[in-house]
Amino acid sequence: QGILWVSAESGRIKGYDWKVQGDEAFTGFMSKNGWVDVDGRTNGNLGGATNVKIVEAREDKNEFFFPGFIDTHIHAPQYPNAGLFGSSTLLDWLETYTFPVESGFGTQPTVKGQSQAQKPEDAPESALLKYDQVVSRTLAHGTTCASYFATVHVPATNALAAICQTRGQRAFIGRVCMDEPGFCPDYYRDLSAEDSLSATKDTIRYIHTLDPKGALVKPIVTPRFAPTCSRPSLTALGQLAASYNPPLHIQTHIAENKNEVALVKDLFPEAESYTAVYDQHNLLTPRTILAHAVHLSKEERTLVKARDAKISHCPASNSALGSGIAPVRDYLNEGITVGLGTDVSGGYSPSILEAARQACLSSRLLGHTKDYVEYHSHTCNSSKSVDGAEKLSVAESLYLATRGGAAVVNMEDDIGGFEIGMIMDAQLIQLGSVRMNGASPLSSTANMNGGPCTSLIQSGPVGNVDIFGTESWEEKIQKWVWSGDDRNVKAVWVGGRMVHWRV
Ligand code: GUN
Ligand code: FE
Repeated sequence: QGILWVSAESGRIKGYDWKVQGDEAFTGFMSKNGWVDVDGRTNGNLGGATNVKIVEAREDKNEFFFPGFIDTHIHAPQYPNAGLFGSSTLLDWLETYTFPVESGFGTQPTVKGQSQAQKPEDAPESALLKYDQVVSRTLAHGTTCASYFATVHVPATNALAAICQTRGQRAFIGRVCMDEPGFCPDYYRDLSAEDSLSATKDTIRYIHTLDPKGALVKPIVTPRFAPTCSRPSLTALGQLAASYNPPLHIQTHIAENKNEVALVKDLFPEAESYTAVYDQHNLLTPRTILAHAVHLSKEERTLVKARDAKISHCPASNSALGSGIAPVRDYLNEGITVGLGTDVSGGYSPSILEAARQACLSSRLLGHTKDYVEYHSHTCNSSKSVDGAEKLSVAESLYLATRGGAAVVNMEDDIGGFEIGMIMDAQLIQLGSVRMNGASPLSSTANMNGGPCTSLIQSGPVGNVDIFGTESWEEKIQKWVWSGDDRNVKAVWVGGRMVHWRV
């Protein structure tokens, strides 16, 4: 019970032995009994399966397996700024905090057509350290797959790819394209559309050499967003993505903030909408991740759905920068594929568990917003749709964090769940225990060690202290989502390889 059998060769799940409970979004993580054999026992012979590792979760230690989290939108170079945004909103936040921090990840060419160095070793030492830190921290929070925006700099972007490969995190790596001098600062931009394209190709080539099969790390074409990109660069990037078989993934931002939407309307008067700008440049594809999508019109939602483009919901960021609340429950009802993003550092936290929590919270406020009520009174005959149906449940938020994210990166057959044949991208969660060190809360030894409360928090995982041992798994999971953090993440596997464990 509570055992995952994983192929030692492919890292894919060959079998398991646990009771499945609850609704379908949870399929597969429930554990019973057992214990953790973190080294794995290879070449075992379990019910005819050979050459398997077995990994176990122990119910008596309050442990269970959960699919690894998928962060469908995160800016690696902004990690040093996490928590720093004052009371800014998107456009002044970019200018005040974001472009300055990103510009430190390399030097930009000073002459058009001058190519950048490409080797990761050419990146500044500080960039390597910061990228190593963001990969460590996201792994520690259970993120087994991330879609990263890097910066315009080729060496540092290539270094981020190499770090993900070495540390074993599944990743999409995007060199950020931004060549529009009307919006981008002179100190931080591509000098022309051609430079933007050729630097993008350099990074794609590097990643394809690093990981020829794309087993772990893949390139993703990354026009930052419409205002930072000239029309020729948008056209060239759409063509570039389509020139591969299968086409490359694409990521960008869309309709995050109302001033941004108005700006795009001004800058692209020929387009019917913000979404249409991307569509006109062949950037709206089934492999496109659109981050935020807070303020989409009905027509834009229809277009997103028609092109099967995906949405990354970034609720922590949308609240922090005061961008608004994306109507995610509606998107799901409309058949749009949605996953979660931390959007560090628009988002203040590298944790997808935090994003799941914020997705629940913001959905509970949605019915109180004028925009949402107005939208529904225009599109529906009655106001009945603002009746609580916009709220996301804890189960749905976890679905977005795993299976939803997997669908956003077109990997729903391989990751995001524990079906047999799927890749073992997993985390071992341990919930809190009543007493951590066995000492009586009244004993002087316990107090000398920092006190029983401190020792519970510092030496053990937090959340879900099931004092009477009567809670259902559903209840335990709710407490984990509302009060858990990285201290609950005991170990993390990507492709069957253990890539993080808590000491
Ligand atoms: N729009 C353009 N660039 C960015 C960015 O770095 N973060 C967020 N949240 N929105 C953006
Ligand atoms: Fe972003």
